[in-house]
Amino acid sequence: MPATIVIGAQWGDEGKGKIVDVLSHDADLVVRFGGGANAGHTIWVGGNKFVLHLIPSGILRQRCINIIGGGCVIDVASLLSEMAGLRAVGVTVGPDRLLLAENAHVVTAYHRAIDQLSGGKIGTTGRGIGPAYADKARRIGIRLGDLRDDAFEANLGAQAEFHGATAKALHGDAPMPDFDQVLDDLRAAGRQLHDHICDLVPVLVRARQQNLRALFEGAQGVLLDIDHGTYPFVTSSNTTVAGALGGLGVHMPFETRIGVVKAYSTRVGNGPFPTELHGPEGEQLRTKGQEYGATTGRPRRCGWLDLPQLRRAFAMNAFTHVAVTKLDVLSGLGPIRVAVEENADGTMHYEEFGAFDADLTAARSFGELPPSCQQLLRFLESQLEARLAMLSTGPGRDDVLDVEHAW
Ligand code: GDP
Ligand code: IMO
Ligand code: MG
Repeated sequence: MPATIVIGAQWGDEGKGKIVDVLSHDADLVVRFGGGANAGHTIWVGGNKFVLHLIPSGILRQRCINIIGGGCVIDVASLLSEMAGLRAVGVTVGPDRLLLAENAHVVTAYHRAIDQLSGGKIGTTGRGIGPAYADKARRIGIRLGDLRDDAFEANLGAQAEFHGATAKALHGDAPMPDFDQVLDDLRAAGRQLHDHICDLVPVLVRARQQNLRALFEGAQGVLLDIDHGTYPFVTSSNTTVAGALGGLGVHMPFETRIGVVKAYSTRVGNGPFPTELHGPEGEQLRTKGQEYGATTGRPRRCGWLDLPQLRRAFAMNAFTHVAVTKLDVLSGLGPIRVAVEENADGTMHYEEFGAFDADLTAARSFGELPPSCQQLLRFLESQLEARLAMLSTGPGRDDVLDVEHAW
């Protein structure tokens, strides 16, 4: 089965959505397997901007069936509004094109409320992700199948009680959502989503048996993995290739494993960032790269590439290919630095690559890129021990150079 997985190799926002959108031209299925509406994947098609949080980036291709897997947590209000937004611009999102795993967990208003009260230390997106995964582990989660079958009132009551008590203990009289209102809203959402919700195991097994071309779309990035990232400054799900199988519950032989690397580093929220640039260089990257979160609008912290971290991410995930995005942002910036190793005192040792100033979108092949840009890319390829597959030179669907056809 020609299964390809696309994973962010840094702290998220590497441009996964754009890469998946390009590759989905040839896909039958596009599948999300973890995370929730904390993700924000921005895609530009012919001058139109789409921001997807939950729905896989294959939705913009009429031939693709899009699947949200069991490892995800789904804010049904956010999902319904995303579906309505797509319908409004003529994208069809019926049950024939969007399937939802019955075992995916529901993010409720209680999760959002408690995340907004307590997520500040990490700098979460406030979308209720951590509390929803925590309630899943606490066995008081609500699954999409429970919504469909209207069998969730008891667990919603348990959530109201648990989070109400926490809010009271931590924040005195912080208002919590009204139970009857939450119950009614979820019942209404269950009716609206009824025909999308199914057991995905036979669907994915059949896809594998029929050799369908399937694309698996990561959310967040390797360093935000709950087990293998920069804990506790992480999200609440597994974001790696290994984690994808857990989220799906069905074995998929990922032949092609693409690590998406932004040409510099960014991070939203708190936590370590050894190559962060605090001065005008960081500001320049942020302005040129438009580094503001698609989900919360927060300015992203910016810095140089961190090769020790990337080597580890590539080795962990056995990425076969690397897709480098936002190369155009480096153009006109001055000399480009890449951290190649950590010094004994914990500071970083950098290698420098020559500045370039060309309009990269004009390049139609690797050989037409400026020599120092080529040098940087070949250096990354050899350091990461993965083949250069795609180079992104702008946000649009066509701003991409296919160095090697990855699938
Ligand atoms: P994702 O979460 O990994 O899908 O990434 P985001 O969509 O959150 O952030 C990537 C941002 O960079 C989006 O606004 C994209 O439109 C934009 N983008 C993607 N690739 C490129 C590129 O090659 N050049 C430029 N300038 N922008 C890009
Ligand atoms: P995409 O898919 C960047 C970060 C948050 C915070 C931490 C925990 O667009 O790459 P959470 O709300 O998940 O509990 O927040 O993780 N974070 C992301 N940063 N891109 C994302 O998704 C992210 N999803 C979560 O900023 O630091
Ligand atoms: Mg994003």
